[in-house]
Amino acid sequence: MSGTWTPPKGIDPDRPSPARVYDCYLGGTHNFAADRAVAAQAIAAMPQLPEIMRANRAFMRRAVRMVAGEGVDQFLDLGAGIPTVGSVHEVAQALVPDARVVYVDVDPVAVAHGRAILGGNPYATALPGDVRKAAQLLGDPEVGSLLDLSRPVAVLLIAVLHFVPDADDPYGIVAGIRDRLAPGSYLVLSHGCPDEEPEAADQVQQAYRGTATPLSLRDRAHVQRMFTGFDLVEPGLTWATAWRPDEPEPERRELLAGVGWKR
Ligand SMILES: C[S@@+](CC[C@H](N)C(=O)[O-])C[C@H]1O[C@@H](n2cnc3c(N)ncnc32)[C@H](O)[C@@H]1O
Repeated sequence: MSGTWTPPKGIDPDRPSPARVYDCYLGGTHNFAADRAVAAQAIAAMPQLPEIMRANRAFMRRAVRMVAGEGVDQFLDLGAGIPTVGSVHEVAQALVPDARVVYVDVDPVAVAHGRAILGGNPYATALPGDVRKAAQLLGDPEVGSLLDLSRPVAVLLIAVLHFVPDADDPYGIVAGIRDRLAPGSYLVLSHGCPDEEPEAADQVQQAYRGTATPLSLRDRAHVQRMFTGFDLVEPGLTWATAWRPDEPEPERRELLAGVGWKR
């Protein structure tokens, strides 16, 4: 473990977790040697991974700003991770001080850290939950105590569905969420795509093979399919760096990103 961080009870430090591996890429301290080993292996295959992850976070912040600017004041972040570098509630509440944010993650470390940083924030919480049981999550009383699903909400699925294998039907998961959302709601999604660098992508997938959730990268057509029933807002499904950049930035072609609107 790096730094002086004390992990929550019941955490197995020898079992790498995607949330902590991601924390390594972002330069955080909430990770163990086993997580750093996976990150190192993945970075050896794709040295630009930390840059890709920072681009992912930057997309998330731009999308949240855009959606909040459209008047949405409720956010459900599924597979939220450890909010090491910027986070949804900071961006949303800077624009709408009482914006509601519910973070959900399957990794208890991510939830514990989220709770620690949210202590005292009456409008945001972090809950344990599995995106594969999204229908259950949307009906969860704790979610309902903060979010009113009869009004528009932004659901964030950022860099998480590539941890859901086809066997768990990621398309069905998104469709189930869509059907529960009020008109005017948004889907904010990013997803790893191997189209441009298939060999490196394959090696990154190998690195994740021993983790709690192996990686299932998907091509553009399959990521596009996740937006079925949503209108993609401009500029559509793009590389994360190309989605409404604040200023021109070097293009990265490993992560697709888009925002869908439910009529
Ligand atoms: C790459 S991180 C992305 C974190 C954050 N969404 C972001 O983009 O900055 C992926 C996160 O998804 C979580 N995750 C993986 N499978 C999940 C599942 N079935 N349900 C909920 N969270 C999951 C991991 O624990 C990890 O925190």
